Order: sequence, then C-alpha cells, then structure tokens
Amino acid sequence: MAPSDPILGVTEAFVADPNPRKVNLGVGVYTDDQGRIPLLESVRHAESQRLKTSPHRGYLPIDGLAAYDKAVQELVFGSQKNNIVTVQALGGTGGLKIGADFLRLIDPKAQLWISEPSWENHRQLFEAAGFPVKSYPYYDPATHGLDFAGLQRALSAAPAGDIVVLHACCHNPTGVDLDHGQWDKVREIVMARGLVPFLDLAYQGFGDGLEADAHAARLFAGAMTPVFLSSSFSKSFSLYGERVGALSVVSASAEEAARVLSQLKRVVRTNYSNPPTHGGQIVANVLTDPQLHSLWERELGAMRERIKAMRKQLVEKIHARAPGTDFSFMLAQRGMFSYSGLTKEQVRRLREEYSIYAIDTGRICVAALNSKNVDYVAGAIASVIR
Ligand code: LMR
Repeated sequence: MAPSDPILGVTEAFVADPNPRKVNLGVGVYTDDQGRIPLLESVRHAESQRLKTSPHRGYLPIDGLAAYDKAVQELVFGSQKNNIVTVQALGGTGGLKIGADFLRLIDPKAQLWISEPSWENHRQLFEAAGFPVKSYPYYDPATHGLDFAGLQRALSAAPAGDIVVLHACCHNPTGVDLDHGQWDKVREIVMARGLVPFLDLAYQGFGDGLEADAHAARLFAGAMTPVFLSSSFSKSFSLYGERVGALSVVSASAEEAARVLSQLKRVVRTNYSNPPTHGGQIVANVLTDPQLHSLWERELGAMRERIKAMRKQLVEKIHARAPGTDFSFMLAQRGMFSYSGLTKEQVRRLREEYSIYAIDTGRICVAALNSKNVDYVAGAIASVIR
C-alpha cells in the first residue's frame, strides 16, 4: 500500500466522518459563508453563453486553446510576448509536471530546490519526474516569519544549472511572502548563480490583488531567461475540478520559444494528448470579455477580503478563549492558508475530538472558515493548545 496523500488523504478522511459539525481545513479550497464552493457569477454567465452555442467536443490543439493561452500570458505577465510560450495544462499541478518532464529531458544532471517547507506535493512531483530534490531554508518557526538569511545562503551555494522552485505569491503552506526588496535579492542570486527559476503561481489575486500578486512573475520574466512558471485558475475561478492551469516558459527569443513549444507539445502528447475543452473556454471567455473580466475581479476581491476577515476573527476568537496566547502572526500571512504552529499531536486531537481536519504540519485553510464554524474552530484550537 502507498501512504495516503498528505492533503487529499485528509479530504478522504473528512468525507468518511459522520459528525455533522465536521470542518475540513485541510485542502486549499475556498468556500463561501454558507460553506459552499461558489459558482462565480462571471463563470455562470460565460458557461451559459457557451452552452447556447452547443459547442462541439472535438480535440483541442496539444498546447490548448489559443485564446486561453494568450489570456493567461496577459494576466500573468501583463502582455503577450513572442518569446513567451504558454501551454494549457491540467491545473497548476499539470503545469508543474509538464515543466518538470521538459526540464528533466533537457538537463538530466540538474538538481531541483524547493522551500522548507513547501507545498506537500512539490517534492513527490519533482522526484517522480526524476529530479534529486533538495530544500532551501524558508520559514523560521521562532519568528513565524521568513528565514531570509538561510534562504540566501542556500541559493548562493547552489550549483549553476540547478532549478529553484519559488512560490510567486501566497506561499503554500506558510502564507509568508517575500517583500519587493527580498525578491530583488533572490533574482540577483538566481541570475548570478545561473539557476533556473520555476515559479509556482497558484493563488494570483488572493494576496493583494491580480497585479500586485504578479510582481515576482513579471520581475523574473523581465530580467532573465529561461523562466518557468506554472499557473492555476482552480482557486481564482473556483474551477477546481475542471483542471484549468498553464505552463509558461520565457525564452531568449521567438525562435527559441518555437523550439521550446515543440518539445512541450511532445511532453503533453505523451502524457495525456491534449487538455479538456470546457474550463479553458470558460476562463478564456471571462478574461477576454471586459464586462465579465471586471465582474470576475470583483468576485475574486470579495473572496480575498472574506478570507482576511476570517483570519482576523479566528485570531481574536482564539485569543478570547485562550488569553495569554498570541496568534496575531496569522494576520501577516497571505492567501488561503495559515501555518498555525499547531503540532502534529494537536492536529490529531482536533481531528479525533472535534472532527476538525487540518494538515499534519499545522497548515489550516482559513478560506474554509465561515460565520457558522469559526467559533467552533476557535474553541477547539483553544482547547488543544491548553
Ligand atoms: C492544497 O495545497 O491544498 C491545494 O493546492 C490542493 C492540492 O492539490 O493539494
């Protein structure tokens, strides 16, 4: 038997739990104040427009819908460029995997670096693609902040040609991000050492907004090549199961980009042939229609603000029930997650005594809190930390 997945395995256990009060703070999924995964109005409009035309279900091109690929480039990089290749992928995970297979093909000697800690699936995904995976310091549990000195030391010693995975915004799992000055420094080190940056942008719009969250992507894309970037609309469009993501590669020239695309198409074709139609078409329709685009931005902004409000409530409610504790560090974290500092044992107690499901590392999904469960969760956390 293989071990159960550290994130999706938690959802499996949650689904099997008969307790009506159960709360799933494991997987990174946004639910609204009713506890439902929202169907965004912008998506609903685009979907009904699409269905009116009785769309065919023929194969998409190997690299996906052209309108989608272009729209992704504009959203991520601010404009389309002839030296950037974007291919539609099966969610952000799919984008990472296409990039991993391609990189492994062109440089089988490279090692790959992920942050410590990183998204639970990064290590397994890149190891499965054949890479030796190393980690660079990132989070300092003592300050609940960044270990920037450790990060700089590790990357400054990485061999040229190694690949470094960077969370472009809303670091998963910690919620601790780099500021602009720190990004500048990381870019300098990456360039000076001849490293290959692979940015993971799964939460654009959940930190400070669409433009602000694209800062790192645009910084690297404007400064060096190659740059790899995986992006996702699972969360920002609430289209999790449609698997809508992309891989973009910033190349040195249009001619190099054409060669990169030819190789990426081979990787896609030998993995799953070509991507699915529905989700990509919906996203392309929303992003290319000015009215739907602005409706979507408003909906995304509302999700971002609701998460921030839940973060604040959780901190206040824990404090009220467990005076003397201080969870205010959570307020500085960004995105869907909070690295709560809860131990594995405390996470076990939350699960067994309260049917509250979190990741063993103490990561909780703040985006799954709502006005009906936040008191219950705060009370449970206050009791297990006592
Ligand atoms: C998460 O970290 O919970 C999400 O990215 C969902 C996943 O695929 O793990």
